[in-house]
Amino acid sequence: MTASLTRRRAIILIGLMGCGKTTVGRELSKMLGMPFLDMDAVIEEQIGKSIPAIFRDEGEGHFRALETALLRYLLHEADWSNGAPIISTGGGVVLKEENCAILRQLGFCVWLNVELDVLLARTARANNRPLLLNKDRRAILGNLLEQRAPFYARTAHLRLNSSQMDIRSVASYVANASRGFFSKY
Ligand code: S3P
Repeated sequence: MTASLTRRRAIILIGLMGCGKTTVGRELSKMLGMPFLDMDAVIEEQIGKSIPAIFRDEGEGHFRALETALLRYLLHEADWSNGAPIISTGGGVVLKEENCAILRQLGFCVWLNVELDVLLARTARANNRPLLLNKDRRAILGNLLEQRAPFYARTAHLRLNSSQMDIRSVASYVANASRGFFSKY
């Protein structure tokens, strides 16, 4: 398979903080034998700082530029000889049109759409999300859901309402759907 074709066979998980992108991504990676790439973790490793520290020291705008730079790298330069990856994105990646276009070129984009109460429960103890730190999480997540839903909807090839599903069921569903999606290529 040529590099350009390989590049279009990633599975990309999008959605709000707490929707399960990382846990489902790891499960999918095991299930399908595809490498796993967590964009937030790659950025933290590149910069040598946690996401909250990047937000604090350099600001959100800088973090957003790092996200776009990583996506450009994945599309144009990355060595995908180990196979196309499962990509877990940061929840705000869809805010830039360029990012959304790249994500759709990289492969099959799946929006894990999870209702607010479930997001709140899943983000309750985490302190690694600068947008939620010391804030009214219900108000913030509620607003983000409302603002970003159209962006997720526009970017996703598949929207999966996964609030009531366990991780394995979500991963199986996405794996099956990806077979259908890629069979059209
Ligand atoms: C963000 C989500 C985070 C991380 C950063 C900003 C957002 O990723 O990229 O804190 O804007 O929603 P997760 O969605 O993996 O928590």
